Amino acid sequence: MSVKTQVKHILLESGGEYFSGAALARTLGVSRNAVWKAIQELEKQGFPVESKKSVGYRMVQAADLLTEEDIRKYLHTKYLGNILIVKEIMDSTNDYCRNLLQQGAIRGTVVVSNEQVAGRGRQGKRFYSPGGCGLYFSVIVNQDFQLQDASVLTACAAVATSRAIDKLYHTHTQIKWVNDVYLNGKKICGILTEGELSLESGTMSYAIVGIGINVRNTEETMPQGLRSTVSSIEEEVSDCHVQRCALLAAILYEMEQLISEMTERRFLAEYRQRSCLIGKRVEWVETNGTVKKVAVMDITDDCALVTQDTFGNVETHYGGTIGKILED
Ligand code: BTN
Repeated sequence: MSVKTQVKHILLESGGEYFSGAALARTLGVSRNAVWKAIQELEKQGFPVESKKSVGYRMVQAADLLTEEDIRKYLHTKYLGNILIVKEIMDSTNDYCRNLLQQGAIRGTVVVSNEQVAGRGRQGKRFYSPGGCGLYFSVIVNQDFQLQDASVLTACAAVATSRAIDKLYHTHTQIKWVNDVYLNGKKICGILTEGELSLESGTMSYAIVGIGINVRNTEETMPQGLRSTVSSIEEEVSDCHVQRCALLAAILYEMEQLISEMTERRFLAEYRQRSCLIGKRVEWVETNGTVKKVAVMDITDDCALVTQDTFGNVETHYGGTIGKILED
């Protein structure tokens, strides 16, 4: 375990008590300079460390630890999360689930990690997942799916996440087709659904729904390239302290409800109502990289995006990329 992680644990678990740099250094068997560096890194990651001259360091807010015990305190689901795996650090919760499936994992298993060192996003992109700053988890949904149900499942997860955040923090989150949750025009959550297609039957025997939420990243802790488009819940909602265990439990609760009625597509009305694209003009990025301006007309019952270009041609897209949302 790194010095930073050890310092983090001591401060988080001490209920706001002060520790001097010398005491931390002695306990961990490292130099005071190493402790100081660890504190700097924790502050950069958004941890609320307070330092007092000649006294030491402490965490000022109530700790937001991710533990199985705390998650279970909030969990009111029938099967999602019955098997719950919580880790401090892993490569990617989606990859962990894929391995579990090879060992016969069961429906509803949830894997959560405080940090991901190889978090993955759509289209081969990296998903930035620093420790303590976000909620990164994957849910195994294994029932027979038709291929087109994958985007419906992703849409279900987006509505569940959006709903849970709004209920807990009194926000008005929106969904950017097909899988991003936005708050105040900035992305706060991404969803990556993966599965394995049986070519014989054309069905997917399982799906892994991976959800990554930016909880307390600040502009300074965000990689340069993301700063103008990405934010976090605590950055956007004033005086908000997210308890990740409660947020996770709330999302799982909403997801379980929505998955149970997924085939009836009732949630689609809410999905459309939460869409930040319907009725807007946007840049549509073709697979070859060319960009064209289109108006977003609707989202179909199987979650495809219907657009109309400037010549009046209407197209239905099952995948692809939206560039900028254009001003009216
Ligand atoms: C995107 O924005 O393109 C999707 C991001 C999905 C990130 C989540 S975090 C939990 C799960 N594990 C991963 O490696 N990715 C997903």
